[in-house]
Amino acid sequence: MKINVLPKFDASQEVLVFGAFEEEKSNYDSISKQLTSELCELEKNKIFIKKFGQIYTTRMPNLNYKLIVIVGLGKKKEITLERLRKALGKSVKKVKENYFINFTTDLPDLVKNNFSAELIGRATAEGLLLGNYGFIKYLAKEKQDKKKSLSSVSIQWTSPSQSPSSSTFEIGLKVGRIIAESTNYVRDLVNEPASIVTSFFMEEQARQLASTNPKIKIKVLNEPELKKLGMGAMLGVNAGSENPPKLIILEYNNDGKEKPIAFVGKGITFDSGGYNLKPLNYIEDMKCDMAGSAAVLGTIKAAAELGIKKNLIGVLAMCENMISGHAQHPGDIVKAYNGLTIEIGNTDAEGRLVLADALAYTEKTYTPHIIIDLATLTGACIMALGYFTVAIISRDEGLIASLKSVGESSGDRVWPLPFFEEYQDAMEGDISDLNNMATKKYHAGSITAGVFLNKFVTDKTKWAHLDIAGSAYWTFEGDYNQKGATGSGVRLLSYFLLNQ
Ligand code: BES
Ligand code: MN
Ligand code: ZN
Repeated sequence: MKINVLPKFDASQEVLVFGAFEEEKSNYDSISKQLTSELCELEKNKIFIKKFGQIYTTRMPNLNYKLIVIVGLGKKKEITLERLRKALGKSVKKVKENYFINFTTDLPDLVKNNFSAELIGRATAEGLLLGNYGFIKYLAKEKQDKKKSLSSVSIQWTSPSQSPSSSTFEIGLKVGRIIAESTNYVRDLVNEPASIVTSFFMEEQARQLASTNPKIKIKVLNEPELKKLGMGAMLGVNAGSENPPKLIILEYNNDGKEKPIAFVGKGITFDSGGYNLKPLNYIEDMKCDMAGSAAVLGTIKAAAELGIKKNLIGVLAMCENMISGHAQHPGDIVKAYNGLTIEIGNTDAEGRLVLADALAYTEKTYTPHIIIDLATLTGACIMALGYFTVAIISRDEGLIASLKSVGESSGDRVWPLPFFEEYQDAMEGDISDLNNMATKKYHAGSITAGVFLNKFVTDKTKWAHLDIAGSAYWTFEGDYNQKGATGSGVRLLSYFLLNQ
């Protein structure tokens, strides 16, 4: 999608979209005089849309625009970057539904509400490009044609308080485009079925990314190396699969001058649950269980395109949790990379096992300054927070605060779970160091999973765990998200890196 910035509405586009605040007497206060005839028509028809989330379309003969879309923006003082993303995402979808492929619009004046022109630009590109996404490759040609993406949007940028000029806004648009396109890349990887997205496929994707940028180096640890290194937890999870496990490692910029920031992603290409098999209604979407690893890949892609000056490590812990004569049994005991023994209380608690080895290896090999892991780790996270929020667990209040703050500006929002000392013995084993299943009395499944992970990172490293079980994959359509993969994590971590 091409995004043009103009000082006025673009008469060459087929559709006019405009937003209206509740305070406006009519819908049209903010629209310039050039549109008089259109506006008279609307006024005559008493069309007033103001409440946030309302959207209205009208076609009127004899007008320059073939379709007019009015989006309610709510109260002026309640406008946020996220509301801007949503309003734009919704508009894109509405225009698409009506089979047009372009529109022109103005923007609400967020500079007045103390948002910088740069951040407004980012949110604008994100709302447009994320809303324009569709996973349509498996549909018949005729159906694809009906779901065509928009090819261009023209944005009017005029108001004096939107100064200094359109140039900071346009820098924001560029940054937002990189982040949104990386997010859409992740959505494609997560939406693709598990028969395609194997560990080999993810390796190919990572190699392709590395080949586009000389600053990215790739290393892949295959089964024989994983065995040699003693990654028994990861190997146990993959034992029932026909596909091999892989630890895929991307180094970006890693010049050895400064300790890197490491991102570690859970990459279960399919989670059947193993012998603790998932029941009906829980197994169907489990191709999404590699969303953490995909988000790591997408973040490295965005970081490289943004030219981030930090040293970064991205680790993708790829396995498949399947059943066969070779699969691990409940009650098996495995030994992790850091030497701790783990009893498999439940084969469906596999994410923490692959992360255990990946985290310990990452800390030992790269001594990062910060480690952030991303995982579709627990169903309990969806119970606690639903689909709109990433759960964060960390001992580092500063890291929580900065991720929470970039969560707010990026719209990929984060909320902390408690990590009190009372939880910390939840994962002790009876006949082994640890059990991957918490003792019954604890409940709090997302927190006890975090307690388990914490055994594999020492206190020397700042560490945060992000549970994206709800935020990464939606069972319903959003304003700029679609049903299915959302790409959660990419915006959050890209904004985080831009703030470092
Ligand atoms: N991949 C699942 C968690 C999940 C559930 C992600 C729903 C996305 C949507 C994870 O491996 C899992 O099965 N967790 C178990 C842990 C339990 C056995 C301790 C869970 O949450 O039920
Ligand atoms: Mn599982
Ligand atoms: Zn899983």
